[in-house]
Formats: sequence, structure tokens, C-alpha cells
Amino acid sequence: MTGAGVSAESGVATFRDSGGLWKQIDPMKVATPEAFEADPRFVWEWYDKRRTQLKDCSPNPGHYAVAAMEKAKDDGFFLLTQNVDDLHERAGSLRLAHIHGKIYEVQCLQEGVIREDRRAPLPELPPRCPNCGAMERPNVVWFGEQIDQNAVLATESFLSQGEVDVVFVIGTEASFGYIIDWAQRARHPKGALIEVNPGRTTLTPYADLHLQGKSGEILPLLTQNL
Ligand code: OAD
Repeated sequence: MTGAGVSAESGVATFRDSGGLWKQIDPMKVATPEAFEADPRFVWEWYDKRRTQLKDCSPNPGHYAVAAMEKAKDDGFFLLTQNVDDLHERAGSLRLAHIHGKIYEVQCLQEGVIREDRRAPLPELPPRCPNCGAMERPNVVWFGEQIDQNAVLATESFLSQGEVDVVFVIGTEASFGYIIDWAQRARHPKGALIEVNPGRTTLTPYADLHLQGKSGEILPLLTQNL
């Protein structure tokens, strides 16, 4: 499981660290359906800026190490990320679910159709559906909304195969109940929950091992012999 911290060394801002996104702007102004309804252009400008900044970022050794774990374990591996960026995919991860959506996808408010649009900056804000001309929104999960149900299904389907030997929780504050729940449910009673994070989080007391440091430095050490 990964969160914003895994992308920090790629230059992507986290949310709750000092200088994080939620320290710069009130999430209620840019990450709720109500904020979007009140001022879609303002919300879109914020996402357009993040989409544009992300274009210049590249996967770091932490992303590549996660992709190497998948390669070694094949279908015995699953990645659940809270990140809306595409750095895991760009590092080669294939079996993954974005529980909070994807920043390079947009959704038509009229038809509900989701399409990828990687242009950044976008030529028009808010973007319009090419089919019906209705306004589109970023395909990300906002506060007060359901998490991505396809990602939930993919996660539950993986868990239905049985508990796992090792659960890595990497670069997340684990602020949400479902993240804490999945991390604990996934671990086999004889398995290990390993946290990789420079700081302590909600999950630290439940971790068998807390590898305290940056994921871009620690994860490559773990995977170098895979
Ligand atoms: P947070 O910003 O809450 O937490 C980032 C975590 O990454 C912290 O625990 C840091 O200590 C850790 N960290 C920082 N640098 C790191 C590094 N180099 N290596 C490893 N860890 C590092 O981000 P998330 O927990 O991902 O949701 O936040 C979860 C969700 O809250 C986000 O997906 C977003 C936000 O609201 C939505 O927008 C729906």
C-alpha cells in the first residue's frame, strides 16, 4: 500500500507534511463536490497546476522497487495506492488499484463517461465532454465521496485469495479507516506488516517492523536481490 510519501522524492507534494498541499490550501475549497459546484474553474485551476507539475516528475527508486516486487511475485502481488499520480505505472507496476482515482482522467458530469486526457495544461478550463459538451470533472475522489468502487473490487478480489505474507505500508499517514482496515486484514496471522516511513503514523503501533526513512532509499535495499 502506498501514499503520497512514495512520490515525495519525485518532487510531488504530500498532503499533511509541513509544506504539504493541505497546509497550503483548505481541502474544503478544492477537494469537495460542493467546492466544485460553487466554483468549477477555481477547482480545475488547482488540478490543472498539479497535472502540469506532475508532467515534469519521474518515478524514483521507490516506485521502481515496488515494480520489482511485483515482477518477483507475479499474481501473488497487489498494489493499492492512494496516489492519483501515474508514477507507479511509469515505473512498470501493472497490478494496481488507485483507490482515490487518477489525476489524468476526467469524467463527464452528464454521461458519467471517464476518459484519459493527459494534456497539461488543459486548453480549456473546465474541460468539456467531446461527446455531449457537458462539463467534466477530475476523476479523483473528493471528501464526502465514495472511494473508487473498481479499486475496492480489485482489492477485495486479491484479498479473497487469502491473507498475505508481507504487507508493506509505504509513505502514508494512514488517515482513513479503510486503509488501516485493509492493511490489518491483509496480513496473515504469521505474516508481517512492514511500514516504510520517516515518521510515525496511525499504523505504526500495529507494524511488526518500522523501517524509518525514505522509501526511495529503503525499498531498493530490500529488493536489490530479487
Ligand atoms: P499524507 O500527506 O497524509 O502523508 C504522507 C506520508 O508520507 C507521511 O506519513 C510522511 O511521513 C511520509 N513521507 C514523506 N516523505 C516520505 C518519503 N520520502 N518516503 C516515505 N514516506 C515519506 O499522504 P497520504 O497518507 O497519502 O486523498 O494521504 C492520503 C490521502 O489524503 C490522499 O490520497 C489524499 C489526501 O486527502 C484525497 O485527496 C482523497
